[in-house]
Amino acid sequence: MSADSLLASRPTSAGADWTIDQDWASYSPEDHQVWLTLYERQAALLPGRACEPFLKGLEALDLHGRGVPDFKVLNQKLGALTGWRVVAVPGLVPDEVFFEHLANRRFPAGRFIRNPDQLDYLEEPDVFHDVFGHVPMLTDPVFADYMQAYGEGGLRALGRGRLHNLARLYWYTVEFGLIETAQGLRIYGAGIVSSRGESVFSLESPSANRLGFDLVRVMRTPYRIDDFQQVYFVLPSLQRLLDDTLQDFGPIYDRLANLPDLGIETILPQDRVFTRGDQAYAQTGGRLSDS
Ligand SMILES: [Fe+2]
Repeated sequence: MSADSLLASRPTSAGADWTIDQDWASYSPEDHQVWLTLYERQAALLPGRACEPFLKGLEALDLHGRGVPDFKVLNQKLGALTGWRVVAVPGLVPDEVFFEHLANRRFPAGRFIRNPDQLDYLEEPDVFHDVFGHVPMLTDPVFADYMQAYGEGGLRALGRGRLHNLARLYWYTVEFGLIETAQGLRIYGAGIVSSRGESVFSLESPSANRLGFDLVRVMRTPYRIDDFQQVYFVLPSLQRLLDDTLQDFGPIYDRLANLPDLGIETILPQDRVFTRGDQAYAQTGGRLSDS
């Protein structure tokens, strides 16, 4: 993900594209154990909650094996499936760098892993969030094309002053998206599948609204970065997300210039409502933790 406000300057060890060597050999046994602990928790929780493409991708990539995945090994499998690969970056990268990577089917991932005392809450995405959370969906051909289209859309959007609207699309899909299936709602967002607490909250909590996905509506909806979401948007299919994102957002940005942002808890008359939340969790201040 990118966030200019949180950026450090580019380390001298990073290339012009901000990539660094993963240096897999330098992970400690404790680092690998943190991965294994997180992996086993989520692998037990996600069947019946995560969507099929995610679960299939997790299986196909065999991310469990030796702890923190070696990107070289991972990329052989991922590349053969959809032509994507994972590149290591030192942390958050500038928007234009991020979009350029996605547009070329490269997913920038942090190489560091959280400490054993941070299993449940982390401010910056680590390798578990970035790889376990994001990479399984990149094995799905439609989602893989969507991520590339998002990057291309990001490059087109630079300088238009509407990146905050575009970032909401990423947030409410790539990070916190739900999808409707014949078996019920399922998770595909990386921020959810990599979080023990939100894997349950996103589907089961009576607090949050769950509303049908609508591109412009999503782009008008702010989000919270400090706690569980107050609203989740539900896709009818991954194809819908790709089709919507392949269009030129230029005319949409023009419309958004004259449309106010919506309150995060708002339900519009035209929204398709899957669940109307009572917002009790948010009103009581949340927990600022997903333990
Ligand atoms: Fe992420």
